[in-house]
Amino acid sequence: MRIHLLGTGAGGGFPQWNCNCDNCSRLRAGTIKSTPRTQSSITISGNDEDWVLFNASPDIRAQIESFPPLQPARKVRDTGICSIVLCDAQIDHTTGLIIMREHDKPWDVYCTSAVYEDMTTGYPIFKMLDHFRGVNWHEVKTDQSTFTIPKADNLIFTAVPLKSEAPPFSPHRHNTTAGDNVGFKIEDTLTGKNLFYAPGLGEMEIHVRQYMEEADCVLVDGTVWTDTELSNEGISNKRAKEMGHLDQSSKGGIIEILSTITKPRKILIHINNTNPILDDDSLERKKLNNAGIEVSYDGMEIIL
Ligand code: MLT
Ligand code: MN
Ligand code: ZN
Repeated sequence: MRIHLLGTGAGGGFPQWNCNCDNCSRLRAGTIKSTPRTQSSITISGNDEDWVLFNASPDIRAQIESFPPLQPARKVRDTGICSIVLCDAQIDHTTGLIIMREHDKPWDVYCTSAVYEDMTTGYPIFKMLDHFRGVNWHEVKTDQSTFTIPKADNLIFTAVPLKSEAPPFSPHRHNTTAGDNVGFKIEDTLTGKNLFYAPGLGEMEIHVRQYMEEADCVLVDGTVWTDTELSNEGISNKRAKEMGHLDQSSKGGIIEILSTITKPRKILIHINNTNPILDDDSLERKKLNNAGIEVSYDGMEIIL
């Protein structure tokens, strides 16, 4: 399978429109060794023709333009995206559905019933799309059963329930239910290889560790280096943990967890603009390199 990373930044992207944190100002000034990142989304194909979009970011328009297979131009209105899978109902993962309202038929959207509830109440994008071509909702179960998607040849999907946080507008905020956040195992039946993708990971649970140990590549939450990163920059008093993101550097953080897992290639995604790892020359980046952990960038490709 071919995995194309469309957007590797967290909500807001890098640089964020109103942000003058150290990274954002240095990126604008051209004084940081780094590249801009659009908001969180990847796309996967098992046949190099039909693409499953994982999360629809507000940057989807530019992301499609950046990756020609998503615009194959076979007819007057066309797309290479066959279906959309959502990990959660967060703004950075769902707003692209509105941008893609001009689709010539209902979008096939795969998400849990908890996300469906958010998308029809707190952030009623599905209801809004009813005024266009609508949405064909396919329920993704949280019992770790496998499912397939029409046209997504050779691929088998499993949703993996994760402890994270529901969006601020969700009826489940601070009272999360299974299905508010899921990661995905995506397996290619031709190569036997699998990816574990989890852009929002708030806690490391035993079943999650098992998926990671058995993966050939893990593409996981790289939002923040420290739990207090946003308050350190004077941006917000929210801790990353409260937002459902496990930091990288603390005891029990992502580096420590990944260092005990040997098999997979390890890559961080959904990187917040405040995170020092965005600077290729930073000490924090060196620590990741030493731990064998990669930092993703827009346009990165993984073949499994
Ligand atoms: C998150 O990942 O916590 C959210 O996407 C933050 C946001 O964009 O509001
Ligand atoms: Mn996010
Ligand atoms: Zn910033």
